Amino acid sequence: MEKKRTQFSSKIGFILAAAGSAVGLGNIWRFPYLAAKYGGGTFLFTYVILALTVGFALLVSETALGRKTGNNPIKAYKILGAKKLKIGGWLNSIIPMLIVPYYCVVGGWVCKYLFEYLRGSSQILTQDTYFSNFIANPISPAFWLVVFAVLTFIVVIKGVEKGIEKVSKILMPILVVIAIFISIYGLMTPGAIEGLKYYIIPDFSKFSIMTVIAAMGQMFYSLSIGMGILFTYGSYMKKVVDMEKAISQVEIMDTLIAFLAGLMIIPAVFAFSGKDSLNAGASLMFITMPKVFNSLQLGGFIGGVFFLLVLFAALTSAISLMECSVATLMEQFHISRKKAALAMIIEMLALGIPISLGYGVLGWIQPLGMTLLDFFDFVTNSCMMPISALCTALLII
Ligand code: PHE
Repeated sequence: MEKKRTQFSSKIGFILAAAGSAVGLGNIWRFPYLAAKYGGGTFLFTYVILALTVGFALLVSETALGRKTGNNPIKAYKILGAKKLKIGGWLNSIIPMLIVPYYCVVGGWVCKYLFEYLRGSSQILTQDTYFSNFIANPISPAFWLVVFAVLTFIVVIKGVEKGIEKVSKILMPILVVIAIFISIYGLMTPGAIEGLKYYIIPDFSKFSIMTVIAAMGQMFYSLSIGMGILFTYGSYMKKVVDMEKAISQVEIMDTLIAFLAGLMIIPAVFAFSGKDSLNAGASLMFITMPKVFNSLQLGGFIGGVFFLLVLFAALTSAISLMECSVATLMEQFHISRKKAALAMIIEMLALGIPISLGYGVLGWIQPLGMTLLDFFDFVTNSCMMPISALCTALLII
């Protein structure tokens, strides 16, 4: 299989692919709701410190291991003779398989919102109960999950990396411009300045061990570390490329977009929904943003463009999650890309459908007192990724 390994043609190819994987729902959906929940500035501060230190070191380590061994994590660990750390290689491979099903659930929510904007019914999205009714519906969330999962599947099976790379070059800058525009607009709304203060000024009385755990989980998630993605991408990287420089660009881009998303959403929460909504969790973006768009002239159009770009960012990340899982299955079980992709889509639907219904008909299933989505999110980000990252760190020393 090794002979099939492709290479990025240039540094920018690596940067775009890695940034496409890194920038996604983690930045636009997950970061703002965690920051809102865990004390605003306190969370932001903890996150940035972690990302610039531990995060950067791990990004470089994983890419270097992938580039050196030219292989998937399971084999990379094997090549380096780390018998005792074998679990690290497996964890790195299993985590994306557990993330991608619930990632597709949220991707499905984005598709649904985009659909409503496209057909001109953005007004109903501003109702307070719209989102909770939608996710509690017995069919709709599962339907939209399937739509998103199939979109991801089509791209992975076709392997249209070139197309994706080209499109990200255009769409990512548009996403940044729209985020800046919405942030400025949001900040000019009465009440927003209080939100801005909450978001950027740390209040250490709010600091707790949970802040660190949440920020660390977010760092792994957002930078796509601890799950084999960078092993794979590193293995596609030419040896002449200045790796550290390329990685710092990826990291800056990822952190900047997360920061902008927070800037766009948190002050708007203060202005449009009131402070009480800070704890809304996973639903924050879906409840607040339609209200912001509704108050704008041409809001229906801007909202549509916004959700389209979120969908695109989500899709490039979901593709990287699925692509890595497919690559691992192909190499470990010596099966074709088609078979591996089929196995993955079956797994994604088998886990994703129950997760998507976890706010409604399957709401009674509450492992550790959490909804199914929160449970998968917690187990992968806060439990498994720190262990797999620790293994990688041990492997390096
Ligand atoms: N980093 C992506 C995001 O922020 C999610 C992701 C996680 C992608 C893990 C690939 C691997 O949305």
